[in-house]
Amino acid sequence: MRTPGLTSLLSFLSLASLVAAQETPSPDPVSPTPTTPPSGPSRTVLPVSKTWPVATNPTYPNTTRETTQSPSFPDTEYVKLLDYSLLFYEAQRSGKLPADQRVTWRRDSVLNDGRDVGMDLSGGYFDAGDYLKFIFPLTFSMTQVCWGGIEFFEGYKLADEVKYLDQMVRWGMDWLIKAHPNNDTLYVQVGTAEIDNNYWGPDTTIPLPRATFQVNKSKPGTDVMADAAAAFASCSILYRDKLNDASYAATLQTHAESLFRLAETATPQQVYQTVVPAVSCCYQSSGYVDELAWGAAWMYTLTNDASYMTKASNYVDQLNTGGVQSGPVTWDNKLGLVYILMASSSQGSPSSNGKWQDLAASYADFTSSASKPCQYTKAGLYYCSGDSKDDSAVIAANAAWAMHMMGNQLDRKGGTQEKVVSYREFALGQIKYLLGDNPEKTPYVVGVHPNSPMNPHSASASGGFNAETIDTVPETMLHTIYGALVGGPDKNDRFGDVRSNWRQTEVALDYNAPLTGLMAYQVMTSKESPPYVVIPAGRPDLPPILNGMEIWQIILIVLCSIFVAIGICAAVCYRKRDQIRAWAAARKNKNKGGPKYQLSVNRGPRKGIEPEHGRQPYEEQELSQYDHTRDDSIVHSLAVPTPPPRATQEQFASNDNSTLRRPVPPPPLPERHDDDPILLQNASRS
Ligand SMILES: *[C@@H]1O[C@H](CO)[C@@H](O)[C@H](O)[C@H]1NC(C)=O
Ligand SMILES: *[C@@H]1O[C@H](CO)[C@@H](O)[C@H](O)[C@H]1NC(C)=O
Ligand SMILES: *[C@@H]1O[C@H](CO)[C@@H](O)[C@H](O)[C@H]1NC(C)=O
Repeated sequence: MRTPGLTSLLSFLSLASLVAAQETPSPDPVSPTPTTPPSGPSRTVLPVSKTWPVATNPTYPNTTRETTQSPSFPDTEYVKLLDYSLLFYEAQRSGKLPADQRVTWRRDSVLNDGRDVGMDLSGGYFDAGDYLKFIFPLTFSMTQVCWGGIEFFEGYKLADEVKYLDQMVRWGMDWLIKAHPNNDTLYVQVGTAEIDNNYWGPDTTIPLPRATFQVNKSKPGTDVMADAAAAFASCSILYRDKLNDASYAATLQTHAESLFRLAETATPQQVYQTVVPAVSCCYQSSGYVDELAWGAAWMYTLTNDASYMTKASNYVDQLNTGGVQSGPVTWDNKLGLVYILMASSSQGSPSSNGKWQDLAASYADFTSSASKPCQYTKAGLYYCSGDSKDDSAVIAANAAWAMHMMGNQLDRKGGTQEKVVSYREFALGQIKYLLGDNPEKTPYVVGVHPNSPMNPHSASASGGFNAETIDTVPETMLHTIYGALVGGPDKNDRFGDVRSNWRQTEVALDYNAPLTGLMAYQVMTSKESPPYVVIPAGRPDLPPILNGMEIWQIILIVLCSIFVAIGICAAVCYRKRDQIRAWAAARKNKNKGGPKYQLSVNRGPRKGIEPEHGRQPYEEQELSQYDHTRDDSIVHSLAVPTPPPRATQEQFASNDNSTLRRPVPPPPLPERHDDDPILLQNASRS
């Protein structure tokens, strides 16, 4: 009989000595129940003086305070966070930089983008830690920033950030206008992953050629067209209602109308990777109906034209035939936000509003109750199996974002204050976690605290020239990419602050998009400073974690197993004592002959321990930083739970059990999946 207990014991004994050598402070548990939000904003507003660094490397003021009570209103730290959240986008600018560029270490770059197709597609934003340009995550990010601008405009005004909001949005929308040169064409990607992902270096020597990809009337990408329509529509509202630029608003509206019509009329309706396989590296779409609903919802919000509401309603019904569909908000899944936006926009139309309120309420319950596939980590981070593995901070920020939008619309409608407060509490709990109220004592925003991520996965900020030495050269990042929200911790609340650990340290357009609005809301409402102001410099040494268990739990289990095993042996021996005696006697008589048995012991690998990178393991560290496979389980049933397909269950199981998993190659391109209630997608980003 094999003795797995013994094998494990040997490896655990060596672990035990490893642990004994370490200080093991108990991690500070953070309650998943958020604290009460502050009451309404004070009316005395202090002038905002902005003295923080923006150009080179951070000098952290000695901000350690006794309490988080803010000495001023609006709170200076939240004003700074809002400023930095937009400043991040300046670090991502592509093309010819303007004279007032605040991130001065960036250079003009890839001015010839689009030449291969006779177009000027220079400008816009680089997607993430690399130099690719993608429309799909950009349009979602623009929509989120513009919606946040509309909803929390007061925060931008209080922080004196309206100018930077305008600049951020205009930089993105000006480029999207270029990418939509006529009614039938939309450019969706510049640069290819195969070339760009082999490059780790500055913005001055970005590898060429940079191929350009489009969707069009004869080869449509229904999802990306509808999503771009949503971006144009939401930003048009921002310019019309808040930024007082009617002419720009009108331009954006024309593009929105054109793109939404294209998405609805160009056939066959299909996901865009069908015609542009190059996007499959990074942002393949799981279906297009949620984008059609999203586009229709924004067109309705923009125009108040009831026919768009009918369209949105029909698309949603199409998805919800088997029960109300849901899932965490991501660049690929906007369904929950469709419900909430429509609940808000249709308030002037009481006959229709009820349906949307119901859908929105069920989505809010799905989120606030952390229903499957989501749950709270031990320290209270909203974490969704599948999605959160690649960017847990963003999934949590998007959930907080959705709850704020829900709280606001319900408040406007005069709904139950209890509900409104509970949604806002959920959001505040996540915001606090992301800003330092976590076991790593780390605000997951770069450049705000000595414990902020020091090694964000950003080629331009790193100062490195060689992908082989990404983690070591230069030892310290050359530039600080202020305000970037990084991927975030793993499901055990642990963070591996290493450049090649792209799942946890990468930066991206869609990561910061929810941060902008959330920080504007904090500026408007918070009488406290963010949690990090009371955190002393230095992350705690946390005990290592194996397969989701802490080391003391494992040792306890092993010791118990040994005692049980010894007990069983003793009991068996006692019961079989006569046979054993007989056997021993027989053996004694036979004496010198017979085979000899030897107990062999296999030492298994010590899974999950990554001594190279210090304090704690993180998932799948051996994956290449360039193999950016992400698994997105997209749509999950709310009211009528549908069992996940086998692949999903295996996926979740393997997430839970394997710390040394090899990347799964992306599946073949999906055909139409819109009738699948639950869809598992592989996409990846760099
Ligand atoms: C920061 O403040 C703490 C507590 O007041 C003090 O012990 C420490 O020396 C200060 N550090 C610096 C660099 O001023
Ligand atoms: C339409 O898009 C497809 C897919 O990107 C492309 O192959 C084709 O050349 C485009 N058509 C035109 C007229 O540009
Ligand atoms: C393109 O779409 C716009 C807005 O929908 C419309 O006004 C215009 O006539 C269209 N242009 C062409 C050339 O079809």
